[in-house]
Amino acid sequence: MRTSLILSAAATLLSSSLLLHSDAQLCNGYAALCAKTYNQVVYPTTHNAYANTPPGALAANQDNNITTQLGDGIRALMLDAYVSPKNPNVVELCHTSCNLLDAGPLTTTLGQIKAFLDANPNEVITIFWENAGNLAPAQFQSAYTSAGVTNYLYTQPTGTATWPTLAEMISTNKRLVNFMDSGTDASVPWLMAEYDFIFETPYQILKGEEYPCTVDRPQGERKQMYVLNHFISQSLNGNNIPQPGAAAQTNGGDLVTHANNCRSTFNQLPSFIAVDFYERGSIFQTIAQLNGVEWDKKFPTQPKSTSVNNAACTVNSINVMAVGMVALTATLGLLAL
Ligand SMILES: *[C@@H]1O[C@H](CO)[C@@H](O)[C@H](O)[C@H]1NC(C)=O
Repeated sequence: MRTSLILSAAATLLSSSLLLHSDAQLCNGYAALCAKTYNQVVYPTTHNAYANTPPGALAANQDNNITTQLGDGIRALMLDAYVSPKNPNVVELCHTSCNLLDAGPLTTTLGQIKAFLDANPNEVITIFWENAGNLAPAQFQSAYTSAGVTNYLYTQPTGTATWPTLAEMISTNKRLVNFMDSGTDASVPWLMAEYDFIFETPYQILKGEEYPCTVDRPQGERKQMYVLNHFISQSLNGNNIPQPGAAAQTNGGDLVTHANNCRSTFNQLPSFIAVDFYERGSIFQTIAQLNGVEWDKKFPTQPKSTSVNNAACTVNSINVMAVGMVALTATLGLLAL
């Protein structure tokens, strides 16, 4: 009887060490995000993520390439799909036209995203497609297949309103979510219709204008999540030119104000905050605050690898085991008395 009580106490201690193990897990950099459902998290998002070449180009929206963006903590990428001018079967990432800015075939960028997902098993990434070239879903399917990322694709079951938690997406390894603005169909279910789930605030904001908190797409329809478009441009000969010089302020105090305004207008947190020149200003601090977590300055510039997590788990387990041993010894001591 006593022995079985002691054994069950030891078992409880052991299982609490297992619980501690999962507590130590990080999801997109923070333990507190693990229990949140996908749609409850705010994700740092790069507008025209691929438009970083050549460096400093007038049409560039970003300074850094996609590998650096992901390493720095960007977790959603906005990409524009065009038909390659060289091969009608190839999906190419271009800005306005492949003659103006050509960031190469999609498979190359998907390879970089795959490398990140492979190396960072606790991270969930989202891609927003603008289907500018009117491509068929099958063309995306074939690019994703040849890049070897199909294992990571998450599909929200039809008619399901509840999203999985980040921890669930991480444990099932379905960590790549894809939305497209137009041209989706049931033949490729992982390429989801953005406006079934998400609305966007206006995306054309000229420097000096007020940052709007209105529903732009789909017109007048509120959805489960929203994209806060927070980047500005200046008109030059009819072209909207990104504003790197203003980005520290745009992505600094202006973002705090805009996000808070929209949060109270919609009574809903933005899920995706889309910016230009993301590394200027303080978007990661602002987004940590919106997520209700304390910004970890070391994350993501010093990514925590799984080995660090495992080390933390081991330390916790050892502590619990030690406490367990002390308790066990004490109990045995009492019994001996
Ligand atoms: C991305 O940029 C970094 C820093 O400039 C560079 O070291 C790296 O090679 C680039 N990666 C790719 C895939 O271009």
